[in-house]
Amino acid sequence: MIAVPEPVFWAAAAYIAASGLLLAGLAVLAAPALVITRRRSRYFEDWNEALHAPWFFWHVGGFLFRIQELLGNYVLPAPQRVCDLAHSHFRAQVLFTINELGVPDLLRKHGPMSGAALAAATGAHREYLERVLRAASRMGLVTMAHGAERSSSEQQQQEQQQQQQQQHEEEGKGQREAKAGKKGKQQQQRVEEEEEGRREPEQAAAAARQQQARRRRGPLDLEGAVFGLTQLSAVLCEDHPNCVAAMVSLFSDHCGPASELLEGVRSGRTPYELWSGGRSHWDHMAAEPELLARFNRAMTQFNSLSPVEAVFTACPALVDGSAPRIVDVGGGLGAFVGAALARQRRARGALFDMPRVAAAAKKAWRADPGKRELMARVTFHGGSFFDAGAVPRAEADGEIYVLREILHDWSDADSIRILREVRAAIGARARCRLLIVEAVLASAMRSTASARVNGDIHMLVQYGDAKERTEAQFCGLLEASGFEMRRVVPTKGLFLVVEAVPV
Ligand SMILES: C[S@@+](CC[C@H](N)C(=O)[O-])C[C@H]1O[C@@H](n2cnc3c(N)ncnc32)[C@H](O)[C@@H]1O
Repeated sequence: MIAVPEPVFWAAAAYIAASGLLLAGLAVLAAPALVITRRRSRYFEDWNEALHAPWFFWHVGGFLFRIQELLGNYVLPAPQRVCDLAHSHFRAQVLFTINELGVPDLLRKHGPMSGAALAAATGAHREYLERVLRAASRMGLVTMAHGAERSSSEQQQQEQQQQQQQQHEEEGKGQREAKAGKKGKQQQQRVEEEEEGRREPEQAAAAARQQQARRRRGPLDLEGAVFGLTQLSAVLCEDHPNCVAAMVSLFSDHCGPASELLEGVRSGRTPYELWSGGRSHWDHMAAEPELLARFNRAMTQFNSLSPVEAVFTACPALVDGSAPRIVDVGGGLGAFVGAALARQRRARGALFDMPRVAAAAKKAWRADPGKRELMARVTFHGGSFFDAGAVPRAEADGEIYVLREILHDWSDADSIRILREVRAAIGARARCRLLIVEAVLASAMRSTASARVNGDIHMLVQYGDAKERTEAQFCGLLEASGFEMRRVVPTKGLFLVVEAVPV
């Protein structure tokens, strides 16, 4: 008998017991959640429609996922776990590849498809694509099934069998006709029955052979595999209400700079600049319109990651008409301010961003028939929030300034410069406030904590000193720039709202 060291035995036992408990707990929690979900909301389909979604389960699910990760760290052999982690960037490449090839859209349009059909539709190399799809199936990005379509060798074999059978039948028919002519109908029937009896075992043997071949292939064999869309890959489809395809494309653009992390950590230089030959991410985008367009498209998909509705629920003043104007500083193509204005008839909006982005936003709004009414209530302003006086001045008391996903792109010193410009823009107007809509680094066990720590490394790679911040760090920035933090409002999403007033 193999002697198992006692700690390993107990660790394995504890892991199995804990996993069992977790699964049971999850099932108990998930069952009512699924019922509520099916009946009352579209939690799994459209976060923005999902205000009645079982957010409790979302948080519990994240918590359980984290425990599972921690248990994995302790219980799996460390070399295996570490190599798994080292492999994770290949997993990301699998996701990027199917996204860039548009595989999810094809599966949405045509239903499950074979590797050959997908390769033909995307112009990709069939075998490589099939291997990528097999990896994607292990990640839950596609389903992989056998049997709906047969492999070409199986198909050839079956065609040959059919031909032989047909030939055999024709020969037999000739003989039968000759015999039947003399011996009458009864005899002919007997001959046919004999033939049938001979054919049955042949057919059974062929079916058994096929079944055996299928069993030998196993679930990972690519022969005859057919791939389908899953709930995960559905959000890579253009028509999904929570599509994140552009976001995923943007992340894939950042793989090159990420490969310079080691050199950045050694030298204290920004990995992006090491990769791009000294250009900052913003300068690079300013020089390459296609890169900027990809970035802006991705930013409009923030709403899929963290529902705007969740922010509006946390800060009703954004949508209840009590604020005369909402000024979105660094507002990109205006997805946030557009959503806020669409929910009311009174408030006006101002969108401020770099000149090229503000112009692109105006053009996109003009071209969108759904924004025709909103256009009359919004002004577009191009400029830099580092330039004195560029941020639109407050025109009335009670206006709301918004910085959504802005400060995490900048160092402390730059963030204070931006905040001071916003403070100067508010001037002496009464009851104006600032909402910083961002992730706030919180407890390690919060369901969103890992995502934000990953986000912090993403910011390091792109911008060096830029970072995700804790509540205390936001408080410090605000105090240094003429604001006072009033409260930090959690939302039912990834972002929190830091509310501040001028002092
Ligand atoms: C991470 S994106 C956030 C976009 C938007 N707030 C949102 O939540 O979707 C950062 C935005 O800051 C803008 N930005 C960067 N540098 C800027 C500057 N110097 N002045 C004004 N806007 C700037 C970018 O163009 C981009 O739209």
